[in-house]
Amino acid sequence: MIALAERSSALVCVHLDHCEDLSYAVRALDMGFTGVMFDGSALPYETNVERSCRMASLCRDYQAGLECEIGSMGSREAGEKDEGGTVEESGAVYTNPDQAAEFVKVTGLDILACSFGTVHGIYKGEPHLNFDVLSDIRALAKVPLVMHGGSGVSDEDYARAIDAGIRKINYYTYGAKYAGEAVCALADRRRSAKPGAVVYWHDMTRTAYDTLRDTFEHVVTVFANGALPMA
Ligand code: 13P
Repeated sequence: MIALAERSSALVCVHLDHCEDLSYAVRALDMGFTGVMFDGSALPYETNVERSCRMASLCRDYQAGLECEIGSMGSREAGEKDEGGTVEESGAVYTNPDQAAEFVKVTGLDILACSFGTVHGIYKGEPHLNFDVLSDIRALAKVPLVMHGGSGVSDEDYARAIDAGIRKINYYTYGAKYAGEAVCALADRRRSAKPGAVVYWHDMTRTAYDTLRDTFEHVVTVFANGALPMA
């Protein structure tokens, strides 16, 4: 990834997601990562502040960017639990805007991951995003905000979230889901045309890759139309 980023003509950041450990961040930064997310959201607030400050000092030494989180998205990461569910079902806790402002000030982070209704993984129902909470966080914290659990959200909600202060969107689960569905559909098509037909690995990977590329082209266009600015 680092070699690809170096060759890219686009401005690219290679970012370590959901890091909970200083020594793990050091490994990534030594390798050439240009950004780290420290996830202390499950810790008591004071401990999150203390560890985020230590991470901020480390990132300054490497001239890398730092993302931290307060509030909770419920399930930690896609794959750890099967379903993110709604905010109530997943146990997510909205970020408190006043606490977010204080957190940003004391830690010196660059971008803030906040909870306003998105959850990691597959949504059990329609996501219900709270744009008032998001706007309040942006107004008080005054830093670019990050949407975790960003896949599975409607195009309209991406535009509204960007309007309210989101500047980075974490997107994986639904891209991987659509690619998996496309591979299954390919196998179904081949086998209904010819019972027992062989479905080759190279056809599956090609289909998965094409679907992933189409999905990411679509969402990046949506994000760009929402005029996702850099700061
Ligand atoms: P999704 O589960 O919606 O892809 O979100 C991924 C994420 O936020 C990783 O940090």
